[in-house]
Amino acid sequence: MRAPVIFGVGLLFTAIVTTAGQTRDVRPRSDGWVAPAKEAARGNPLAGRADVEAGGSKVFHQRCTICHGDDATGTDRGPDLTTSRVQAQSDGALFWKISSGNTRKGMPTFSFLPEPQRWQVVMHLRSHGRSAAVSPWLATRVGRK
Ligand code: HEC
Repeated sequence: MRAPVIFGVGLLFTAIVTTAGQTRDVRPRSDGWVAPAKEAARGNPLAGRADVEAGGSKVFHQRCTICHGDDATGTDRGPDLTTSRVQAQSDGALFWKISSGNTRKGMPTFSFLPEPQRWQVVMHLRSHGRSAAVSPWLATRVGRK
């Protein structure tokens, strides 16, 4: 009668360890980091130029994935950028955040990149928003549609 109990406990333990190993720790973003209204109102001068997004993807993979992950869903060093919380921000706001950074919280400044490259990265971030598809049902709940 003891063996099955020990076996059962062993199975349970394995299940817990396996699940724990799969939970990824994604760094949350601090509250209160908001772009100034004037910056947020800036439009993307490259809007509509789908042809330049590839350049943004290249920059993103060179400079950002180490913290935000290949698919931009975040790592323990940087937050998820595919969430509606990020995607709901204007191009100007994201441009400002990428340019100025929040170095105290671990987000470097990228003002050294030429402006067009920063706008390209913003376009690339939008493509991650699209690929992180929200189901139509969920979209109506969270007000994205
Ligand atoms: C060294 C790690 C690191 C690198 C490299 C990095 N980031 Fe970040 N990023 C962070 C952290 C940490 C935060 C959250 C800062 C906070 O808590 O306020 C952040 C926040 C952001 C935000 C704001 C998210 C929000 O919720 O408003 C954007 C946009 C962003 N990063 C884009 C980028 C882009 C684009 C690149 C590459 C050009 C990049 N990051 C490179 C660590 C990094």
